[in-house]
Amino acid sequence: MEKPYILHMLTTAKNLSPFDVNMAVDAGWISAIPYINVEPSEAKGLVQDVIFSRSPKGLKKTGIFIGGRDTKQAMDMLKTAKNNMLPPFEVSVFADPSGAFTTAAGMVAAVEKELKEKFNTTFEGKNLLALGGTGPVGQAACVLAAQAGANVTIIGRQLDKAQRIADLCNEEFGEGKINIAAGIDSDKSEYIKTTDVVFATGAAGIELLSAEHIASSSQLKVAADVNAIPPSGIAGLDPFDNGKVFTNSPSGAVGVGALAIDNIKYQAQNRLLRKMIDSDKPIYLHFEHAFEIAREFINSSK
Ligand SMILES: NC(=O)c1ccc[n+]([C@@H]2O[C@H](COP(=O)([O-])OP(=O)(O)OC[C@H]3O[C@@H](n4cnc5c(N)ncnc54)[C@H](OP(=O)(O)O)[C@@H]3O)[C@@H](O)[C@H]2O)c1
Repeated sequence: MEKPYILHMLTTAKNLSPFDVNMAVDAGWISAIPYINVEPSEAKGLVQDVIFSRSPKGLKKTGIFIGGRDTKQAMDMLKTAKNNMLPPFEVSVFADPSGAFTTAAGMVAAVEKELKEKFNTTFEGKNLLALGGTGPVGQAACVLAAQAGANVTIIGRQLDKAQRIADLCNEEFGEGKINIAAGIDSDKSEYIKTTDVVFATGAAGIELLSAEHIASSSQLKVAADVNAIPPSGIAGLDPFDNGKVFTNSPSGAVGVGALAIDNIKYQAQNRLLRKMIDSDKPIYLHFEHAFEIAREFINSSK
């Protein structure tokens, strides 16, 4: 009998996201099996149970997805999974905690496109503010933008938390090769004067960039928002906007809304889930792979 495609879906949270289950099955996984409240220390045992119950041929139809809310835990579990494979007993693994890696990838790829098409430039040397950048989406987006050469500042309501997250991004996710700074929300009126790019990555339904901020920024180029719940994270930005000029921007800045980004996020997550099925060799996927595939999608739809 042909073995069915099984995706073992691990989360450290109380529930697995139904969004991720739908995405997995729609991408071609026949069974999407949830493992909830997983302790990171249990990842090794679960991986070994996955790989020793099927032949190498059957393992080509087997995969592991890592969800949860915590980016560091998810990346640690991805590493644990990889380190505990025993080739040829090995399966593909994809980490996308809270949908954050694919959402961040969609946002960074969309902003990169606007910088190129509207301003003939790149992230290199641009000053970037990540408002509410301390959450999972902000963390992954900041690392990707910093890797692309931007001078990134994570803004939060408490400086010590923002600094802790910046350190995590630099040391863990950026492997010491990036230098993201931290700042406090109450200073954003000053920061915005010299900002080229804004990511609004705060919790849903909170305006983080006002019309006054946009009007006071003489070098703002692109402002993007991942929050689809009203009010928008950026004043005057509709979730469907995709490169629309802010009428109050002295520098002709353009906006990218949450639903424009969502489309790219969807494509990135779908394509990575399918890539796990199609790949000849086991693959290990996280925010960097999501960004590569989001870029590919954008370039192929031009
Ligand atoms: N389209 C998608 O598929 C998708 C997927 C995932 C997420 N999202 C959206 O992306 C956004 C970010 O998600 P996330 O999970 O990374 O966010 P999150 O962890 O819920 O929040 C991010 C940051 O927002 C700040 N914040 C929370 N309450 C606030 C308030 N009342 N005022 C000002 N700042 C506040 C906090 O930073 P400080 O405490 O440091 O200030 C928090 O760390 C959300 O809007 C979410 O809905 C979209």
